[in-house]
Amino acid sequence: MKIHTFIDYYENEVNLVFDDSPFSKNPGHVWVICRYENKWLLTRHSRRGLEFPGGKVEKGETAKEAAMREVWEETGGVIANINQIGQYRVHGRSEVIVKSLFFATIDKLEKKEDYLETKGPVLLSTLPEGIQQDEDFSFIMKDDVLTRALSYIEKTGYLQ
Ligand code: GTP
Repeated sequence: MKIHTFIDYYENEVNLVFDDSPFSKNPGHVWVICRYENKWLLTRHSRRGLEFPGGKVEKGETAKEAAMREVWEETGGVIANINQIGQYRVHGRSEVIVKSLFFATIDKLEKKEDYLETKGPVLLSTLPEGIQQDEDFSFIMKDDVLTRALSYIEKTGYLQ
């Protein structure tokens, strides 16, 4: 099992694996890279900016259920297909968190009254160069989790 280790935007160590759930069978968090009609589906978080949807796993939920719920809550996206592609661990200042990483294709975008702590869906044909320096984007889009996950998704043929 190959573990990719790097430093994130806040200089925390991150370990990333494209494998089932090496760090935890019950991760506390999920992150979901989403495609809708050949575009990337993101959400605009009120504080952090543009990011793929995700969040915390609630009590009694599986990680996959949390992933589907977060996509719905933050974008109105109804999932056609979802697969776990990996998992990562962040050694934060005060705690270590484990996040399961998913790739999902979206069937339908439903318009909603509110999108909780986000301003709702944002569709991008391409992810721009220089996200790392772009204030419009959230810090969670600014480390190697995104770049490596995108290469992995491309390589495994998920985009067809
Ligand atoms: P809220 O309760 O939603 O306010 O969350 P929080 O600020 O307590 O943060 P959370 O429990 O979601 O995560 C704890 C810390 O882990 C954050 O402050 C970040 O430093 C880090 N973290 C969380 N998610 C990610 C991520 O996807 N990537 C990276 N690099 N760090 C993350």
